[in-house]
Amino acid sequence: MAVIAVYSAKGGVGKTTIAANLAWLSATVSCRKTLLWDLDVAGGAGFLYGVAPRKKANAGAIFSRDSNPADLIRKTSYDRLHLLPADASLRQLDNVLTRIGKKKRLAKMAGELSRGYDRIILDCPPVLNEVSAQVLRAASVVIVPLPPSPLSTRAFEMVTEEIRTHTKVHPPILPVLSMLDMRRKLHQQAREEHPNWPAIPQASAVEQCAVLQKPVGDFAPTSPAARRFGQLWTAIERKLASMG
Ligand SMILES: Nc1ncnc2c1ncn2[C@@H]1O[C@H](COP(=O)(O)OP(=O)(O)OP(=O)(O)O)[C@@H](O)[C@H]1O
Ligand SMILES: [Mg+2]
Repeated sequence: MAVIAVYSAKGGVGKTTIAANLAWLSATVSCRKTLLWDLDVAGGAGFLYGVAPRKKANAGAIFSRDSNPADLIRKTSYDRLHLLPADASLRQLDNVLTRIGKKKRLAKMAGELSRGYDRIILDCPPVLNEVSAQVLRAASVVIVPLPPSPLSTRAFEMVTEEIRTHTKVHPPILPVLSMLDMRRKLHQQAREEHPNWPAIPQASAVEQCAVLQKPVGDFAPTSPAARRFGQLWTAIERKLASMG
């Protein structure tokens, strides 16, 4: 079992889009039992699959063991892909985790969920607090989407630094250039600086995910964006395999 966190303290960098598309690849291409766990109160991951939380769901209470994740997990329209949707209770998650005072509570919950899943993908909120600290302790690997710019190297170093200060032994961190537009000079330069970083193109096919409520690989399997998501997924699987 592996926990793949898609994380950045920055908002709007493509975390949810990447998490949702990776979850589909895991379930469909790699045929792994996959859980997409939405930790962001905004609920974007659920929206991208057209899956809403159950009425009266209390995803925040999972952490205090007052609700059972099995009761909250929903099927998607894809085999092997389940979703644990966000709901309004996650607004309090930082406080809940701080109050509980168990630094590895999220890791423990992920461990328990792993009995039913091969891959758990965490869509994280853009925060730097107890939630992100716990995510970093739970993750086998951390995917960090970075908007291409002359500052992307520095942005990546800052995330790495944050991760180091929060976790003694931190998981491998995989940078991804997100929303890459090769018509733009600064994006070209960022790409040249990091030819080995996986990259996801800025593409209308990717925007369509939110309109069609489907992953790119489903409705535009031959698009460049779908190919790039596939390459990113392969890189992640390789990384996990190399970790044993
Ligand atoms: N590769 C891409 N090409 C075009 N549009 C994209 C791409 N990736 C993301 N977007 C769009 O950018 C917006 C932000 O993406 P997304 O919600 O995935 O970011 P996020 O990091 O999860 O944001 P937040 O921090 O608010 O949760 C969305 O409208 C999404 O459709
Ligand atoms: Mg998001």
